Amino acid sequence: MDAPARPADFLWGVATSAQQIEGALREDGRGESIWDRFASVPGHIADGSDPTVACDHYHRWREDLDLLRRLGVGAYRFSIAWPRVLPDGRGKINAAGLDFYDALVDALLAAGIRPFATLYHWDLPQALQERGGWSTRDTAASFADYAAVVGRRLGDRVLHWATHNEPWCVATLGHEAGEHAPGHRDPAEALRVGHHLLVSHGWAAQVLRQSAPGAAVGIVLIFSPAYPASDGDADREAARRFDGAFNRWYLEPLLRGRYPEDAVADRVRRGHLPGPELPFVRRGDLQAIASPLDFLGVNYYSRVVVRAGEGGEPVAVPVVPVEERTDMGWEVFPDGLRDLLLRLHREYRPPVLYVTENGMSHTVAPDVAGRVADARRVDYLRAHVAAMREAMAAGVPLGGYFVWSLLDNWEWARGYGQRFGLYHVDYATQRRLPKDSAAWYRDLVAAGPEADAAGPSNRRRFP
Ligand code: FCB
Repeated sequence: MDAPARPADFLWGVATSAQQIEGALREDGRGESIWDRFASVPGHIADGSDPTVACDHYHRWREDLDLLRRLGVGAYRFSIAWPRVLPDGRGKINAAGLDFYDALVDALLAAGIRPFATLYHWDLPQALQERGGWSTRDTAASFADYAAVVGRRLGDRVLHWATHNEPWCVATLGHEAGEHAPGHRDPAEALRVGHHLLVSHGWAAQVLRQSAPGAAVGIVLIFSPAYPASDGDADREAARRFDGAFNRWYLEPLLRGRYPEDAVADRVRRGHLPGPELPFVRRGDLQAIASPLDFLGVNYYSRVVVRAGEGGEPVAVPVVPVEERTDMGWEVFPDGLRDLLLRLHREYRPPVLYVTENGMSHTVAPDVAGRVADARRVDYLRAHVAAMREAMAAGVPLGGYFVWSLLDNWEWARGYGQRFGLYHVDYATQRRLPKDSAAWYRDLVAAGPEADAAGPSNRRRFP
């Protein structure tokens, strides 16, 4: 179990996910995922690309481990591809899939890097989608079985487990907005999916606690703090609605054992639910969902500023000019991370928090000497680390911070055009080049947790 973090225990890490880096989709018995299928349909991915090769990490993982070593990070957050372990989602186990993660975990430990494993970073086996995917409770049961298989194999060595990454994205982007796999547009289905994800978290957490005694089990949520565009009542109400649907919809069942009443009422009003009783909640679900978390993973990229639109519905208002935003179009707002961490600690009191993702999409091409001068990413990371430190100084128990991402990678529906990595990837040659931000982060990690919030000076060239 994680004790509240003392600064000396603080972990600096980097994060990745299987679908975005591994490639090798058809090798060594891996089954098809919903993202393999979704990307094969023209029009779904902005640049028409697919994750067939991605960063070829499945073959180059030793080289990538070397990058982790050079950064000097104490932790690496990666995800396990469910279809690599169970090609049909359940039943037959693919030994080669388990062997891959087993070898990775051993190599991480040998390098003194703590593995943080995420069980579900969006790559549902297509075979399960064909039986209804996350709209059915069966998938939650299959997820618990999958957790047991992985926990049995890795639970003796992996001491930090996240069940899910960002259930909001799976439910809303995947089943309401149609932007992510499986591409559905059905708000009622999205709510059911969200619930099954949460139930599956509860069940898998229980299973992991058996197979990995002493391990810390948590979940990773995405947060988008909502700020009203004005002090007016209507805009403040719009911010409340956004917060309820986006942030509290997941937080409250997990940490308080109930769905937020006001956000349920909002969904009823919009016609997405028949009434205040949630038809998909069964007896025992909320207890399973709210079984105590060992940690809460916090993914933070930006905030949203909202005004009241038609019917009072929240409408996002752009507050900074395009050229100041990241390549994803997101505002850079470090104070939002500090405010969010303070709020989570004040209102929900998870025992430990980790910033499990934070980073910036920013494309800079290597110069003739191979230098990638991504000064804006350095500024982004420095400011967010400083904001996190303010929250720590105010008493928020933070256990670590993970940059998204180690490598440029396949950014889902946005394809290869969005680059979040500390390392630049040339997809034609698969050559990795450290960006200036990699050198900056390496120096920050080396300086240790007590270092000045301004971050390291005396920047050295990367080896
Ligand atoms: C998060 C995802 C991660 C990556 C970053 C940019 O929502 O967890 O896979 O796409 O955003």
